[in-house]
Amino acid sequence: MLQALSKAMFSVLADSVVLKKIASRYGMRRERSFARRFVAGETMEELIAAVRALEAQRLETTLDHLGERVTDREAALSAALDYAEVMKAAAAAGISRNVSVKLTQIGLDIDRATCIDNLRRVLEAAREVGGFVRIDMEDSSYTSDTLDAFETLWKIGYTNMGVVIQSCLRRSPEDVRRMNRLGARIRLVKGAYSEPRDIAYHRKQDVDQAFVALMEVLLTDGHYPAIATHDPAMIDATLAFAAAKHLPRTAFEFQLLYGLRRDLRRQLVAKGCPVRVYVPFGKEWFPYFMRRLGERPANIAFVLKSLGREDPDR
Ligand code: FDA
Repeated sequence: MLQALSKAMFSVLADSVVLKKIASRYGMRRERSFARRFVAGETMEELIAAVRALEAQRLETTLDHLGERVTDREAALSAALDYAEVMKAAAAAGISRNVSVKLTQIGLDIDRATCIDNLRRVLEAAREVGGFVRIDMEDSSYTSDTLDAFETLWKIGYTNMGVVIQSCLRRSPEDVRRMNRLGARIRLVKGAYSEPRDIAYHRKQDVDQAFVALMEVLLTDGHYPAIATHDPAMIDATLAFAAAKHLPRTAFEFQLLYGLRRDLRRQLVAKGCPVRVYVPFGKEWFPYFMRRLGERPANIAFVLKSLGREDPDR
């Protein structure tokens, strides 16, 4: 209940132009600035350094060039071309070519054709470097369009991509069945957006229960699923189910967000589990950052503390 309220409040604040301006000024400029906890940096160089540090700890990565809700055709095309450049640069640097993309960043709010054309560009670029594209899932107003765009391209042979399903949505069991039938790789998450009660669970215990049920379906009938959570109870349930079914540790992977629960990911690597870290970077970090604050109000104290250490330009 508290978490649902906090998500709702931070999703309103994420649209604030003034707050974004202030945050952009202070959030990233030094190693210890507050947004650096969740975002690897604004440049490709900072991204490469962060990924190399993670890979040295036997962690896989997926790269998110931040951006969303683009309403301008040129900006959507430019975001798709940027992704192609990121993959080329990643291949040249010898780091991960696994990326995560939001469809509203490449034109879903403009029209379906623009979005599909741009997604195709990203998928072609990924093919050239042997990469993989994960389509992030945004709020529920985009769920059907995202899955439809995914299926359209999948059916014409673009199978170097995966999708995300949110356990908070009541529709998700059917979406999981649909994506499993295609043979698609699913990343299971709880869901980061504030959603209406008639289509989504609000109580943590309901979201968690749905997560466990979907995890069991994915580990049984899925295709190299990704269990993306920092919740020890969800991770323990996954390990217990995998053990009961005699699944090898390599039949699925865990995914965690950059900067969160570094202790947990170390423990999982030590157990021999594949672990992938979602590494966001780029200048458009504000909405992503606000979602992370909304998930855990304790993070606000952390931000206020770091602001106390700032030395603002005057
Ligand atoms: P839960 O919220 O119950 O938190 C469990 C524990 O994790 C907390 O007690 C705390 O220790 C830690 N924790 C969680 N969030 C934290 C935070 N912000 N700061 C500090 N500690 C925190 N969502 C979505 O809607 N679409 C998507 O495409 C994705 N993609 C995605 C990729 C990956 C790799 C991950 C890990 C997550 C996503 N998400 C997402 C976000 C997801 O939906 C969810 O909002 C967060 O992962 C938080 O939920 P948990 O499962 O971690 O559990």
